Amino acid sequence: MSLESEFTNHFGAPPERVVRAPGRVNLIGEHTDYNGGFVLPMAIDREARIAARRRPDRRVRMVALDFGGAVSEFSLDAIEHVAEQTWSNYVRGVALFLQERGANLSGLDLVIQSNVPIGSGLSSSAALEVCAATTFQAFGGFSISQVETAQLCQKVENEFLGVQTGIMDQFISALAKAGHALLIDCRDLSYQHVPMPQGATVVVCDTTKRRGLVTSKYNTRRAECEEAARLMGVALLRDVSPTDLGRFETDMPPTVAKRARHVVAENARVLEAVAAMKQNNLPTFGTLMNQSHESLRNDYEVSCPELDTMVEIARQQPGCLGARLTGAGFGGCTVNLVADEHVAAFVANVAREYEARTGIRPPVYVCRPSAGASVAW
Ligand code: GLA
Repeated sequence: MSLESEFTNHFGAPPERVVRAPGRVNLIGEHTDYNGGFVLPMAIDREARIAARRRPDRRVRMVALDFGGAVSEFSLDAIEHVAEQTWSNYVRGVALFLQERGANLSGLDLVIQSNVPIGSGLSSSAALEVCAATTFQAFGGFSISQVETAQLCQKVENEFLGVQTGIMDQFISALAKAGHALLIDCRDLSYQHVPMPQGATVVVCDTTKRRGLVTSKYNTRRAECEEAARLMGVALLRDVSPTDLGRFETDMPPTVAKRARHVVAENARVLEAVAAMKQNNLPTFGTLMNQSHESLRNDYEVSCPELDTMVEIARQQPGCLGARLTGAGFGGCTVNLVADEHVAAFVANVAREYEARTGIRPPVYVCRPSAGASVAW
């Protein structure tokens, strides 16, 4: 049944609006966002969708189709974090912080559905946050830029849900342009849409290994980066050049030095990757992706056997230009750049080989660079 019919079934009248916001895959620039560095994500053709209708009161009633039609409800005058129906906290947090910045929200009935796989590193949470913010906005009562929307949704993640992520995921979900990747300078939030190269396709392979950001070593990595910046006397690792790093490296604890080495090198790789993309230089782009994975595995230590296996299998396939883990790491997905004519065989062979080695049939997604959040109608 369509989202619209589900809405009518639940609430007895059709929705007034349907809003969408995409998930994302990061092409290159990993663990750089919270260091004020560069990232190059692309929105994928998987998205969260919300059908909505205004209510005459100040209540928000929500139905989540992906959780068996689970229902949750709150008043805009008393928004609390809840321990059950945790999916509803994304909408609650967005409403809370929108009101905190002066938005005059109206009560809504909502039906939520998403085809961004949950917990696999494709930003299902950011998609839902940005979708919720865009939905409230569609019913008026305030104005907010897309950059502010991303910032507000990051605040929801950090302060309402207690997950210390950077801004990349919310930013790309809010600001993506179809057919393009997005270069974001996470220090000043300036950005540039970069056309995707011709002749290659982005393929995402899911190891199916799940990890929660809260329990992962994500926060430890952030702390190690802050320590490295402090030891080098800068506010952000972004401000460290490879030469600076060379001067300080030997005086730092070895682990902290390794983390810094990844971040400094990864920032440089993002800018090289953008230059390669603009020249449609696919081999260089792919080589940079491969280097990113090596750095994440050896220096940043956020890979795992499942991710390394998936990358290794991918690189053995004809037409694979580059393969790396994407997102936070410790599980989740890899991103691969594959020559167009080899995509079908790549998808079949990687899935078959990963299953042969691990016993797990991995979901593989051929991704189209998609547009950021919008009111579908
Ligand atoms: C997660 C976070 C992002 C970013 C990546 C690593 O996806 O949500 O902000 O830090 O990890 O690059």
